[in-house]
Amino acid sequence: MTLPDIRPFTLDQFAVLAGTDKASTHHGYTAIYERYLEPLRQGPITLLELGWGGHEDPEKGGASAVMWRSYFPNARIAVVEIEPKTNHIDGVDLHEGSQADPEFLAGLNDLYGGFDVIIDDASHLSSLTIRSWEILYPFLRPGGLYFCEDVHMAYHSHFYGDDEANPDPDGRTTTGKPTAMQYLRRLADEVQYHGPSDLELFPKRYWLGYSLESVHFYYNLAVIRKAQ
Ligand SMILES: C[S@@+](CC[C@H](N)C(=O)[O-])C[C@H]1O[C@@H](n2cnc3c(N)ncnc32)[C@H](O)[C@@H]1O
Repeated sequence: MTLPDIRPFTLDQFAVLAGTDKASTHHGYTAIYERYLEPLRQGPITLLELGWGGHEDPEKGGASAVMWRSYFPNARIAVVEIEPKTNHIDGVDLHEGSQADPEFLAGLNDLYGGFDVIIDDASHLSSLTIRSWEILYPFLRPGGLYFCEDVHMAYHSHFYGDDEANPDPDGRTTTGKPTAMQYLRRLADEVQYHGPSDLELFPKRYWLGYSLESVHFYYNLAVIRKAQ
């Protein structure tokens, strides 16, 4: 007798069904996501994603929201999107606003009381990617995970403009500000700071003010874990 396969769907299976480009059929982020998120799968976590998707069609998008809703049965799922959307999904809170609006995002933090998982899949502009991190870091719970997608955009000035990207990994944008990859790479230094007793070895002027356990880079995806 052949026993039925009763294993739960993987994140990638949900991603393929939902049609999000995070799936193995496109960017292939789901295998990486699942390494980090599988231990949280049954937990009562709160997940915030920036970016609903669907370009400029108000009735389109929400594919990754469907995937998260299916994968995390006990989670609160919130999504931020700058464009108006009408295709709401049961069990997903859709909030219209910008990934770089501090008052709007602080309002979400008041509503949810912090986030265990934050995913930036919105504009993919360096300036807004960095701004979202700066605003949302305080709202990430200790031990929480911050995923930053499509970080390759930091090199694609032909597409995103010289003010947002630079094909030279060490070259700044024309605004003098770092690209998203330069900023995220800089966060790796923050992992080395372990509190005031380190200050002689690690002068405070080098500390940006973040308390981080790890910064991991994959092809086109960065994963940051806040310290406990
Ligand atoms: C790549 S799509 C999101 C795809 C979706 N997360 C998925 O995996 O199926 C990016 C979305 O971010 C939205 N967006 C762009 N700039 C934004 C901003 N400043 N704040 C919030 N959303 C923004 C776009 O309108 C678009 O719908």
